Amino acid sequence: MTLSTRDTAEHIYANGLRNTWHPVVPSHFVKPGGLRRVTALGENWLLFRKSDGTLSMLADRCPHRGAPLSLGKHLGDRVACWYHGVEVDGTGKVTSVPGLPGCNLEGKTLVTALPVREVAGAILAYFGDEEHPEPVELTLPDPLADEDISAFLCYAEWNVPWRFAMENLLDPMHGAFLHHDSHTMYDGDTTAKFRIRETDRGYFFEKTDQRGVNFDWVELCRTGIDWVDLSIPYPPSAGPGGAFGIVGMACPVDAGRTGVFFWRYRKVQDWQRDTWRFLYRTLIEERHWAVLEQDRTMLEGLPEDADQQENLYQHDLGIVRLRRLLQAQAKQQSKADATA
Ligand code: FES
Ligand SMILES: [Fe+2]
Repeated sequence: MTLSTRDTAEHIYANGLRNTWHPVVPSHFVKPGGLRRVTALGENWLLFRKSDGTLSMLADRCPHRGAPLSLGKHLGDRVACWYHGVEVDGTGKVTSVPGLPGCNLEGKTLVTALPVREVAGAILAYFGDEEHPEPVELTLPDPLADEDISAFLCYAEWNVPWRFAMENLLDPMHGAFLHHDSHTMYDGDTTAKFRIRETDRGYFFEKTDQRGVNFDWVELCRTGIDWVDLSIPYPPSAGPGGAFGIVGMACPVDAGRTGVFFWRYRKVQDWQRDTWRFLYRTLIEERHWAVLEQDRTMLEGLPEDADQQENLYQHDLGIVRLRRLLQAQAKQQSKADATA
């Protein structure tokens, strides 16, 4: 395993939780017949796609002397390390040591391969630890599994710790301030009371006195992968389909970087679907990037220790609850490691 078993709870909390699925990068980052190096949970990985589209995710570390396999050569169903030519297939097995045929490395699985799935344009991978190499059950976000829903994936990499990106999503009240000048979040009260409503897969953090006007609620869902669902009302000029939903996820790249995934979706069929997709591409997408830029600017401006010195109030209960859940899990995972 390349996932270290000696990490402290702080390290795990900073670099990403284990024993869960995470989004990694959009699918189109790895073309058929392509190789791509990515960082996730503070470690380097190789995404490797065969020409028939099959995808593998391997530790980016040659089993011979540690050279990055991502510098190697794609041989169709395997990759050859550039340094001394050792060949590794998509399961992490050494298929050949060309410099020393018959070498005892041949036939051995020496490179960690993570379980991967591709969903709605994104690559998801399961990051286990030594005790939990088998993937946990993954239930996909319902809006991404529903055929009547049409979604666009928008991906960006931000220079922020992943937990800040998640906390931002559990903080609906910023919509009325940070995004006040946007085309969708100009309206509604700038004062509110919030509550937490538990569900069997997470919780809602929602305004008690306003719904359907601004960013008024968010649901955290923990279904083998952590994601949020929220909805933002849309003016009639944005075409058919009513409210506009967002599924959000975050990839912990390392302690200071995050890949953010936002699927913007609407429940639309037939001609309405075409209209919505056309409008999105020609008109709405650009505005969304502008809104996301506001989030990025604010989050990248937060000091590294922002969550160490705060004065929280009622609107931050959703964040407090999120931290408790994530920190408890990080602690438990470091303990599990210590006893392993
Ligand atoms: S380090 Fe890869 S073949 Fe030697
Ligand atoms: Fe925002």
